[in-house]
Amino acid sequence: MSCSAQTSCAQKQDQQQDQQVYTSVKDYYGKVLQTTNDLKTSACTGSSKPHPIVCRLLRTLPQAVTDKFYGCGNPLPLGIAGKDVLDLGSGSGRDCYVAAALVGPQGSVTGVDMTDEQLQTARENIDAFGQTLGYQPNLKFLTGYIEALEDAGVANESKDICISNCVVNLSPNKPQVLAGVYTALRSGGEFHFSDMYSDRTVPESVRQHEELHGEGLTGALFANEFERIVKKIGFVSPRVLSIRHISIFDEQFKQLVGDTNYFSITYRLFKVPSAIGDANCTATYLGTVEGHEERYLLDIDNSFDTNVPRRVSANTATILKESWLAKYFVVESVVDNNSDSQTIAEKRTPTECLMKSALQVECSSSALKSCSK
Ligand SMILES: C[S@@+](CC[C@H](N)C(=O)[O-])C[C@H]1O[C@@H](n2cnc3c(N)ncnc32)[C@H](O)[C@@H]1O
Repeated sequence: MSCSAQTSCAQKQDQQQDQQVYTSVKDYYGKVLQTTNDLKTSACTGSSKPHPIVCRLLRTLPQAVTDKFYGCGNPLPLGIAGKDVLDLGSGSGRDCYVAAALVGPQGSVTGVDMTDEQLQTARENIDAFGQTLGYQPNLKFLTGYIEALEDAGVANESKDICISNCVVNLSPNKPQVLAGVYTALRSGGEFHFSDMYSDRTVPESVRQHEELHGEGLTGALFANEFERIVKKIGFVSPRVLSIRHISIFDEQFKQLVGDTNYFSITYRLFKVPSAIGDANCTATYLGTVEGHEERYLLDIDNSFDTNVPRRVSANTATILKESWLAKYFVVESVVDNNSDSQTIAEKRTPTECLMKSALQVECSSSALKSCSK
C-alpha cells in the first residue's frame, strides 16, 4: 500500500479493517446462521423474560421473522404508543414488529441493517403482519450502517426511542454508533438497548476469532469504558435495567474464552439536560403505563410503586421530568425547612457487583436443577 502521509495510511488501514469486519458479520448473519438454533451461545437464566404483553405479541409474529432472531435481551419498553422508534441492527425484524404493535397506528418504527438476507425476511413479512394487526403498520427497514445513520436515511432528532438487540458489540466503531444515536434522538428520547459485556479484557486469541466475533464475544463492550463514552457524548447517568449471564454451549468456544464471563445487559440512556442543582424532589408514578399498573422499574436500583411519592436524586428527577416518561410521573420539589436534610445521592449498584450477582443467580439455578434430578 502506498500512502502519501502517515495519517492517511493509518486511515486506509482502519477502513480496510472495518470492511473486513462488515464482510465477516454480513456473512455470518446472512449465510452461516439459518435460524436461532444455529447460535453457539445463549443467555440461559430466566431472569429477563419478556413482559407478558411482549410475549403475547411475539406469538402473533410471522414465523420466518422469529426463526431468525439473534438478540440477547428484551429492549422493548412499554408505554410507547404514538412514538417514533429506531432499531439499530434490526436483523429479521423481530423487535421492530413487536415495537410496531406497541406504537400503534400513530407511531412509526424504522429498522436499519446492513445484511441483505436479514432485511429481505424483515421486509417481506410486513403485509402479513398488517393483516394480523388489523392496520398497515408504519414500519420500514433501511439498508445501511449503524455508524452512518444519516446516510441510511435517518434524519437527525427524528426519533423518540432507539432500541437495539445485541448489535453494538459487532461494530468496529462503537463511539461513532453511540454518538449517532444521540443525534438521531429528539430531546427527551431514550436509547434502550440490550448488548453483550465482558467482565475482563478479552484475550487476543479470542479477539482474532471470526466466529466468536459473529457471536458477539470478541467485541463485547466493557461496562466502565462504555459508561465513560456515553457520558462524554451527553447521555445522562446510564441506567442498568437488567443483567444476565450468557452461557456458551460450544465446548471449543468455552475453552477459547477461558475465564472471561459474558453478560447481556439492558441499559437505558436518556437524552435530557444535565441535572441542575440539588436533588430535593419526590417522584410519584401514576400507574398509567399499560402493563405496569402497580409499579414501574426505571432501572435495577429505582422502582416506583404507583401513587407512592419517593425521594429521588437530581439525575433521576431530571430523567422523569424531561424525558418521554414525564407524562407518567409527577416530580415535585420538596419544601423542607430542616437545614440538616440531606439531598438524595444517585443510587447505583456498580456494574461489577451486578455481574457478580448475575453469576451467582446462575450458580444457584443450576444447583437447583441438579438437586431436582
Ligand atoms: C446479533 S444480530 C441481531 C439482530 C436483531 N437485532 C435480533 O435481535 O434478531 C446482529 C445484526 O446486526 C447487523 N449489524 C451488525 N453490525 C452492523 C452495522 N455495523 N451496521 C448495520 N447492521 C449491522 C447484522 O447484519 C445482524 O442482522
